[in-house]
Amino acid sequence: MAWLLSRFSISEDLGIDLGTANTLVASRERGIILDEPSVVAVYKGTNEVILDGMGVGEEAYRMLGKTPANIEAVRPLKGGVIADFEITEKLLRYFLRKAHEGRSWVRPRVVISVPSGITTVERRAVINSAERAGARKVYLVDEPMAAGLGVDLPITEALGSMVVDIGGGTTEVAILALGGPVAVKSVKVAGDDLDEAIVDFVRNAHNLQIGPQTAEHLKITIGSAAPMEQEKSLEVAGRDTLSLRPRKAILNSEEIREALDPALRGILRAILDCLEEAPPEIASDLLEQGIVLVGGGALLPGLASFVEQETGLPSRVDAEPLTAVARGTARFLEDLDLYASFLSEGEDLA
Ligand SMILES: Nc1ncnc2c1ncn2[C@@H]1O[C@H](COP(=O)(O)OP(=O)(O)OP(=O)(O)O)[C@@H](O)[C@H]1O
Ligand SMILES: [Mg+2]
Repeated sequence: MAWLLSRFSISEDLGIDLGTANTLVASRERGIILDEPSVVAVYKGTNEVILDGMGVGEEAYRMLGKTPANIEAVRPLKGGVIADFEITEKLLRYFLRKAHEGRSWVRPRVVISVPSGITTVERRAVINSAERAGARKVYLVDEPMAAGLGVDLPITEALGSMVVDIGGGTTEVAILALGGPVAVKSVKVAGDDLDEAIVDFVRNAHNLQIGPQTAEHLKITIGSAAPMEQEKSLEVAGRDTLSLRPRKAILNSEEIREALDPALRGILRAILDCLEEAPPEIASDLLEQGIVLVGGGALLPGLASFVEQETGLPSRVDAEPLTAVARGTARFLEDLDLYASFLSEGEDLA
């Protein structure tokens, strides 16, 4: 029976992309199993998840900014790292159970991706959260390596390649070769900052206070990083900053592009800094291989041409940028021994 159980749980090993905006769970056999916002709804002032633990992910995301006085929708990760340990554990517990269709006795081994810039203490927090949430064994992998493997870059070959992961809280830039990062840059400028830039712009230019969800909606619907063939506009609602009454305004894509520009240049700075660190031999590989963009931020229209223009390197967005890191974490599960040099465990952090 023990043998059977262990066989079963081995086949249930999971890869997890624990993101600021979205958490994805994947396995070798089933590919992407779960993909939900990293949001938990709790009773205010407590860490108790509402609706018998159902207020996690998609359900909780819909409540953001609209919760009644006694409920709070919390994003437990900020800037790629755990800001609320207990709530992260609940989020992971819920997702692990959901991935195993409620069989809470299954204790999988998990590979979790983390931003490359995080501290040992922050790494420990991720391991502890996952263990307490029911994982049998936890391995951490740096996000850029997971992204590189997820989009099939030749990360173990002598050929240099470059991946940029623009998430909700962090942008991770890495040049990879021979199974390791040749240069890495991690900055806390990503999707959330683009949303904030839109909130600020709309307040200053239109005297209208909008919420972060509305700003994200503007970004996704009419946002861009380079001029578009067909410029667009969108009507949004908010609160007038003077009369404090609800009011609508129409925004156009040129304005949104202007609002996004400073934050996009912050992301570009990280890419250029990383390139400056690369040895010349690798630089010539990159001229051929170019840059692959992943993460939700890569979906911003015109981003590849913006990066291409500013760096002079061919740039493309992966076909499924939102799942790249999660797909990569699941690929490490194929052979934990082969990939041991990429993975760190609790003992390594002593
Ligand atoms: N079509 C789109 N255009 C622009 N941005 C988008 C689009 N779709 C999603 N995003 C943004 O992508 C971000 C989420 O991306 P992703 O899921 O890769 O982040 P994450 O992995 O949770 O965060 P991190 O890696 O920083 O911890 C959000 O800021 C979201 O607004
Ligand atoms: Mg991410």
